Amino acid sequence: MILEDRIEANVSVWRERVARMIKEYGDFVISNVTVQQIYSGIRGVPIQVSDISFVDPDHGIRYRDYSINEILKLLPKAPGSKYPMVGGLYYLLMDNELPTLSKAKEVEEEWKKRATVPDYVFKIIDSFPDDGSAMAMLSAGVLSMSCDSKFSKAYHESVGKNDYWKSTLDDSIDLTARMPQIAAYIYNKKYRNNQQIDPDPKLDYAANFAHMIGKGDDPLYSELMRLFILLHADHENANVSAHTAHLVGSALSDIYLSCSAGLNGLAGPLHGLANQECCNWLLDLYHFYQGIPSKEQIEEYARKTLEDGKVIPGYGHAVLRCTDPRFTAEMEFAKAHFPDDELFRTAMAVFEVVPGILMETGKVKNPWPNVDALNGALQYHFGVTETDYYTVLFGLSRMLGITSHVVFARAVNKPIERPKALTTRMLESMISEQN
Ligand SMILES: CC(C)(COP(=O)(O)OP(=O)(O)OC[C@H]1O[C@@H](n2cnc3c(N)ncnc32)[C@H](O)[C@@H]1OP(=O)(O)O)[C@@H](O)C(=O)NCCC(=O)NCCS
Repeated sequence: MILEDRIEANVSVWRERVARMIKEYGDFVISNVTVQQIYSGIRGVPIQVSDISFVDPDHGIRYRDYSINEILKLLPKAPGSKYPMVGGLYYLLMDNELPTLSKAKEVEEEWKKRATVPDYVFKIIDSFPDDGSAMAMLSAGVLSMSCDSKFSKAYHESVGKNDYWKSTLDDSIDLTARMPQIAAYIYNKKYRNNQQIDPDPKLDYAANFAHMIGKGDDPLYSELMRLFILLHADHENANVSAHTAHLVGSALSDIYLSCSAGLNGLAGPLHGLANQECCNWLLDLYHFYQGIPSKEQIEEYARKTLEDGKVIPGYGHAVLRCTDPRFTAEMEFAKAHFPDDELFRTAMAVFEVVPGILMETGKVKNPWPNVDALNGALQYHFGVTETDYYTVLFGLSRMLGITSHVVFARAVNKPIERPKALTTRMLESMISEQN
C-alpha cells in the first residue's frame, strides 16, 4: 500500500531524530509551568511533539507546515473541482510530501476497497432512539469496530513493537474509509426517515458522502464538503479530541477505542459542539429581529448573551490570536457562490460587530471569529438544517488528523502518557519553600 511504503521509508529517520533529541538534549528545559497554568487547563504548556499540524497563533492551522491557503492551492483537485481531493489531504497528513493527483486517487481507491461498514455498526446505531444524540451514535459506532481492529489482532499475535504502526495504519485506513457511510447512516436515520442511500464507488470521498445524505444532485455541496473536510481535518495534537485520542492510544488501546474517546470530547460545547451552538445563536438572532439584523440590534443581542453569562459561540480561541483562516476560506466560498444568502449575511454583520464587544469585556484574549462562526450558515444554505448533526460532520473530518497522529505516535514508539497531579498542600509548600 502506497502510504505504508512511504511511512516505512521515513520511519527510521523519525525514530533517529527522536532518539537523538532525548539522548543529547533530554535535560534541556523548554518551559516552566506556572501555578496559573496548572489551574487553567494546562493552558499553553507544551506536552508533546507531532509534525502533522501546528496551530500558529497569528496565522492559524498549518498542516505539515503548509498554511490553509497553500494547502488549498497545492493539493491535487478532484477532476472538475476547485477543491482538493480528501485522499490527497490524508496522504499529506500521514506523510510529509505533497501528493500528486495519482497518489491522491490511489488513497481514495484504497478507501473504496475498505469502505464496507460491518452490519453490527448499523445495529448499534439503530439501538439508539431516532432522537438520540448524533455524536453518541457516531462514537458508539466507531467504538464497536474495535472488535475488528487489526492492531489488536497483531498485538495479541505478538507482532514486534517496532511494527505496531503498520496495523495501526491499517486501522486508520479502515476507519476513515468507513466514516462517510457511518456518518450518512446517522443522518438518514435521524432526519430522512431512515431512507439509506448506497455508496457510489464512482464518486470521490466528499462527493460520496454528499450523495449518501441525499445531496448528490448539487455539485456545489460536494465542493463545500471537500472544503469542509479539509478545514476540519486537524488542529494540532493537543486540543481536547486529538489529545484524548492520543492519550487513550498511548495505553496501546486500538484506534477505534482511541477515536471514540476523542469524539466524546469533540461533542462538548466548548469544542466541536460550538458548531451547532453558533448556528442556533445566529438563527435565533435572525428570527428574533425577523430578518437580517442591524448593527444596533446585533449589539443589543450580543450584550444580552453576555449578560446572561453565556459565551458568543464562534468567537474566541484557546490558541489563535487572529481571525481563523478557516473562517476566511468559508467566507470566500459563500461570497463566491451565495453572497445574498440571508443567514450568511447575518453572520457577516455579526463579524462586524461582535469582535468590538468582546474586546470591550477586557478579558477575551481573542475576539476574532473561529471556523464555527460560519460552518452552520454554509450547511444551512444547502438544506442541512439539522444543527445537532454538525458535530458529526466535524468528527467525520477530524478522524483524518486524529488517526494520523495515532499512527505517528506508534511509528516513533511514543510511551504511555502519565503527567503528574499534585495536592494543594504540595503546591503550597513548594511556594513557601521558594519564598
Ligand atoms: C474557545 C474558547 C473556549 C476558548 O476559551 P479560553 O481559552 O478560556 O479563552 P480566553 O482565554 O480568551 O477566555 C478568557 C475569558 O473570556 C471569555 N470568553 C472567551 N471567548 C468568549 C466568547 N466568545 N464570548 C464570551 N466570552 C468569551 C472566557 O469565557 C473567559 O471568561 P472567564 O475568565 O470569565 O472564564 C472560548 O473563546 C469560547 O468559549 N468561545 C465560544 C465557543 C466557541 O466558539 N468554541 C469553538 C472553539 S474552536
